[in-house]
Amino acid sequence: MKTIIEPFRIKSVEPIRFTTREEREKILKDAGFNPFLIHADDVLIDLLTDSGTSAMSSKQWSGIMDGDESYAGSRSFYRFEEMVKKITGMEFIIPTHQGRAAERIIFSIAGGPGKYFPNNTHFDTTRANIEFSGAEAVDLLNETGKHPEIRADFKGDMNVEALDKFIQETGKENIPLVMLTVTNNSGGGQPVSMKNIREVKEVASKYGIPLFLDACRFAENAYFIKIREEGYKDKSILEICQEMFSYADGATMSAKKDALVNIGGFLALRNSDLAMSCRNLLIVTEGFPTYGGLAGRDLEAVAQGLEEVMDENYLHYRIRSTEYLGEKMLSAGIPIIEPPGGHAIYIDAKRFLPHIPPHQFPGQSIVCEIYLDGGVRAVEIGSVMFGKYDKVTGKLKSPAMELVRLAIPRRVYTQSHIDYVAEVLIEAYEYKEKLKGYEITYEAPMLRHFTARFKQIN
Ligand code: F0G
Repeated sequence: MKTIIEPFRIKSVEPIRFTTREEREKILKDAGFNPFLIHADDVLIDLLTDSGTSAMSSKQWSGIMDGDESYAGSRSFYRFEEMVKKITGMEFIIPTHQGRAAERIIFSIAGGPGKYFPNNTHFDTTRANIEFSGAEAVDLLNETGKHPEIRADFKGDMNVEALDKFIQETGKENIPLVMLTVTNNSGGGQPVSMKNIREVKEVASKYGIPLFLDACRFAENAYFIKIREEGYKDKSILEICQEMFSYADGATMSAKKDALVNIGGFLALRNSDLAMSCRNLLIVTEGFPTYGGLAGRDLEAVAQGLEEVMDENYLHYRIRSTEYLGEKMLSAGIPIIEPPGGHAIYIDAKRFLPHIPPHQFPGQSIVCEIYLDGGVRAVEIGSVMFGKYDKVTGKLKSPAMELVRLAIPRRVYTQSHIDYVAEVLIEAYEYKEKLKGYEITYEAPMLRHFTARFKQIN
């Protein structure tokens, strides 16, 4: 088999800045050992997120010039709406400036005290928007998905029995909607099978509860279904996407992922009354319904990106290049969530640094080290991001996994960049015993990982 190459050539380049180790020591210290607080110019390879970091195609850039900036009824909106309708089959398409704006709208309407929202695993903004409304976010991931070392095809699946039990115990009237995140970002970028989407829909329907998809990475999920699930290998990606959405009553989307753009999102709905309420809120906080929080040119770029993301050559390269990084790390013995996910590799920090306990943030330690050593930026997804203090004892309650995410921007880095990242990690793994834990010196009351400051424990 020949090398799977990038299915594009490069027309425009953006230099990246090299720094010395001494410079990075100062930069990291000034940033309170929190990579979110480092200036991006001081980062060599930025794997903080795959969100809003895609390289746009020449066609998307020409769409940017062609965007119609009319306040109402913009041509670009209709192109965008047509494309989203084609994929989702939903009637009401509401543009927002990004995914969390769609979440805020839907959960301010559906949420509130006494309400519960099950998901396979809520992403942090989804959880925050639900909790901000006074409701509770509940994760019902299948058992296999909780074990980083177990290989399975669809580790993003929801535990369907647990969902049924949860609805019976909580009361269907207290569950305004059930959500499925495709792919399951916080659970390792793992896909959800079509079978699971169908079964979750069946359970939700039994109780008259609508199903929503958190659809940020819908095309990557569809590709996994194509290559891993029986009965889908001869279907087109569009057909698979259409089937996925056919089971859903609504969807929130961050176009910053699988629409290959730098900003954008939407809410897609089937229910006209709900759409009316959402649009009313949209007008107050985002903008008129034919642009949401976006410019006409952004809507053009989203429409074009949604087309491009379903290209099988692109998805083949995309999924394979993530897997390539995962394989390099596994062959050096680095523990990661297996198999590699769609958009990122997740290091199992508990097994990487068994000598650092969760309350000393092993993930943060790895994140700091790879920045210091190689200028690579990644993100902790563990006790820093999801740790909660017990209301009675004040002790830190850690999430099940301590992870470090290396998220791969779409169409941005080449194979040699990825080889370099693997080298930095493999080197750090060789001297892992020397790595130290951290303590928090400042934290905000919500989403603390963005602004927290740390100090190394000696
Ligand atoms: N849902 C999921 C599954 C996400 O991964 C994200 C964003 C959102 C919702 C919110 O979308 O950022 O456009 O408001 N994830 C980014 C990440 C930030 O780095 O994984 P947004």
